[in-house]
Amino acid sequence: MNKLRISSFSDYKKQYKESIENPEKFWDSVAEQFVWKKRWDKTLEFDFSKPEFKWFQGGKLNMTENVLDRHLVKNGNKTAIIWEPNNPLEETRIITYKQLHAKVCQFANVLKRNGVQKGDRVCIYMPMIPELAIAMLACARIGAVHSIVFAGFSSSAIASRINDAQCKLIVTANEVYRGDKPINLKSIVDEALKDCPSIQTCIVYRRAIEPTMMVGGRDRFWIDEMSKVDADCPATEMDAEDPLFILYTSGSTGKPKGMVHTTGGYLVQTAYSFDNIFQMSKDDIYWCTADIGWITGHSYIIYGPLACGATTVMFEGIPSYPDFGRFWEIVEKLKITHFYTAPTAIRSLAKESLEFVEKYDLSSLKVLGSVGEPINQEAWHWYNDYIGKGNCPIVDTWWQTETGAIMISPLAGITSTRPTFATLPLPGIQPVLMDGNGKEIENGSEKAEGRLAIKFPWPSMARTVYGDHQRYKDTYFSTFENAYFTGDGAYRDAMGYYRITGRVDDVVIVSGHNLGTAPIENAINEHEAVVESAVVGFPHDIKGNALYAYVILYDSYQPSEDLVKQIKDEVSKSIGAIAKPDKIQFVKGLPKTRSGKIMRRILRKIAAGESDFGDISTLLNPEIVRVIQEEKV
Ligand code: WTA
Repeated sequence: MNKLRISSFSDYKKQYKESIENPEKFWDSVAEQFVWKKRWDKTLEFDFSKPEFKWFQGGKLNMTENVLDRHLVKNGNKTAIIWEPNNPLEETRIITYKQLHAKVCQFANVLKRNGVQKGDRVCIYMPMIPELAIAMLACARIGAVHSIVFAGFSSSAIASRINDAQCKLIVTANEVYRGDKPINLKSIVDEALKDCPSIQTCIVYRRAIEPTMMVGGRDRFWIDEMSKVDADCPATEMDAEDPLFILYTSGSTGKPKGMVHTTGGYLVQTAYSFDNIFQMSKDDIYWCTADIGWITGHSYIIYGPLACGATTVMFEGIPSYPDFGRFWEIVEKLKITHFYTAPTAIRSLAKESLEFVEKYDLSSLKVLGSVGEPINQEAWHWYNDYIGKGNCPIVDTWWQTETGAIMISPLAGITSTRPTFATLPLPGIQPVLMDGNGKEIENGSEKAEGRLAIKFPWPSMARTVYGDHQRYKDTYFSTFENAYFTGDGAYRDAMGYYRITGRVDDVVIVSGHNLGTAPIENAINEHEAVVESAVVGFPHDIKGNALYAYVILYDSYQPSEDLVKQIKDEVSKSIGAIAKPDKIQFVKGLPKTRSGKIMRRILRKIAAGESDFGDISTLLNPEIVRVIQEEKV
């Protein structure tokens, strides 16, 4: 993969220019580095109006030959996965490329033996254990389409996803350990499967020695099934455009969208982006703290790193167990060189005592990453100063489930970074800012702010919403002509650096003024007393809408009228008096999705005095909703 490794900023500029002038030639040269059973006939064919995008048409390949077999000759004994259990007293597991290859082939045979064929959908509902990686790669081995559901979702969330994709088989584990309480996953699956007629088989990995209820004729233990097959499984030949997986993402309204990712383009771009953004050396150890149930885990724990032959860490637990030093303990123990996490994790650790950080030797770290939401100044500096000790470039990576791979990010050690800026697009990516009239704001030497769109296709883009192409078109391709709409707003400075300002679907119109809630939150978060905040609109007799801010304070601060005033002043200072929230409520927590996103929909209802919240069972912390409601100001 090193042929196109960017080594300097001028090299980046050159590659970027070439990739825009001749995208097909550029992506050809990236794709040529992989193992194809047959070369593609046509690099790109697209039509924004349908919308339809086809990359590397006619090309034949198998994902696992690229992420596994390809490394066996030279690097078979290299560690592919290091698994760190929830309980620090349990043993770390080391899995080499050779061992992973064998397990994947063996489990692929299990799937085949249970009737799974190319094109069939397989649901995976598993904790962060190596068997999750094995199951997903086994699907890829035989051309089955995996649909991973985060192992924190409720039974009804699983059932709706299984039914939407009509999955034939589900792979799960009997228990999951996250923190100090075990969760019985199998019973959640049993509940879900009451409403899932398409499921014929349920394979259960025994994570705990607990007795497990098995349903006759349907349920089988992983270990028993593995004992019936060998580890010889030829890779199924796939078309570049055959689906690799479906991953559900929540829409701003309605049911989740099953984003469909395909094989060739996804491989090419996750590998290329991983290689260039993280700039790993041969013996480096990379740890992304995401869960494989999300796109970050798909692209940057499994496919990207393994395609590049890297060593990737999988962590079963949570940052606060057994205490707030857990991440840093693991960094020291495994000598992590590349650490990739989310701002929400950084903020939650930054509010704890520094002793948790200072206890550990973090000198192995070379590169830090951030993903999933805008990183505010305070969190950026804490990450930079206390974790990176000022020596590690921070790659603030912007992308989405829909984009499949990172789109805008610094390249570690190459792009000069600036707090809160995701900086520049990767080669091959053509972002644009659109003004209020849907017109492109030219990328000149002027600062600009607008809605972020991408005006040229890229290989790892999702090709459709499973079973609902119209929704794909409506959501992403009907806002602007001939461009993909991200749903995000962005600011671009005179150097062309992008800062993602947040979802533009969270705009509130106050007294006729358009106000984004994200910049207001950023302003509030700048106050030294504030850990985190969320701002929503609520109906107001005179202004149409007014702003309601929910604010979490550091433990050392008490809510007071004075603080309310200071926070309002902070907003006034940063944006203008018009953006000052009418109401500020101090809260202990905010309702969040499992991927750490604030559920503004619920906060809007509380602010508006409504109490019908719909299904809140998939939240990380559903209990907080009633507390906030009861303490409403
Ligand atoms: C937000 C996660 C600012 C953004 C990979 C996007 C970010 C949404 C960043 C996608 C970042 C992601 N800076 N905002 N570096 N990365 N986002 O699908 O609003 O879970 O649209 O994918 O997260 O979330 P998703």
